[in-house]
Amino acid sequence: IMSDNLWYEGIPFPKKDYNPEILRKVQEEFVIKDEDVLIITFPKSGTNWLIEILCLIYSKGDTKWIQSVPIWERSPWIESEPGFAFANDREGPRLLSSHLPIHLFPKSFFSSKAKVIYVIRNPKDIIVSGYFFWNSVHFVKKPKSMEQYLEWFLEGNVPYGSWFDHVRAWMSMRERENFLMLSYEELKRDTEGNIEKICQFLGKKVEPEELNLILKNSSFQAMRENKMSNFSILDDTYIVHKNPLLRKGVTGDWKNYFTVAQAEAFDKLFQEKMADLPQELFPWE
Ligand code: A3P
Repeated sequence: IMSDNLWYEGIPFPKKDYNPEILRKVQEEFVIKDEDVLIITFPKSGTNWLIEILCLIYSKGDTKWIQSVPIWERSPWIESEPGFAFANDREGPRLLSSHLPIHLFPKSFFSSKAKVIYVIRNPKDIIVSGYFFWNSVHFVKKPKSMEQYLEWFLEGNVPYGSWFDHVRAWMSMRERENFLMLSYEELKRDTEGNIEKICQFLGKKVEPEELNLILKNSSFQAMRENKMSNFSILDDTYIVHKNPLLRKGVTGDWKNYFTVAQAEAFDKLFQEKMADLPQELFPWE
């Protein structure tokens, strides 16, 4: 059991399933095709929710695919060893996922027409979600307390590095027409409207009854019960308990864990680091 991080180019990665050789290949050699669709996030932003929604858009709401193939095979994580292999094997238009910061992303992407959906989430909720998640899996360094994890997060000493750098760098792509930025908060507030937005971005038409199926089958409850999506089929070299991913699925859970002082310190740092970006890009309180 490898409860530690792998460091690559100054960024911590999970230890299991990641290695420098693949990370280098992904950046230098992996070919992104024009027809690929990529879901990119900082971990714990709602990546798997979006993957489930996209799979259901592709299947027009039908559950056969999402209930028979593990979520990490439907949309492989290009930078992980198994994901890299799945992605390379796949023919035709691919659905791909990544948490990579932009400066380690496949170089081929920048001259392609591949579509990217980048999802952001309130970093305070990402911290809470991450604290519980990394403690319920074996492949990264485990924080001893929320306080310690908050400290690590602010230092960028968590899987995939600094949230601030990740978001700032990827957001610089937001005016491109092959780039769609969504937020967990808006996805929660108006799931239907956001699914329509995604369909429009992908040029997919869905009928009203298909939209209803997509909504129903990608709900928190449905995903929690879908063993192909809830990570429960991972063996115990990966996970500590059977439902590590679908924890609460709400916005604002940070209020149950941050002290007033921690929240104030976080907000101050957020202001310092992100003040020059349009604040309407961050749709949370
Ligand atoms: P919480 O830990 O706050 O519950 P990621 O997929 O990027 O690792 O993000 C995981 C977070 O997304 C978890 O947040 C999880 O509960 C939430 N999530 C996953 N599926 C969801 C869904 N269908 N609806 C709402 N939230 C979902």
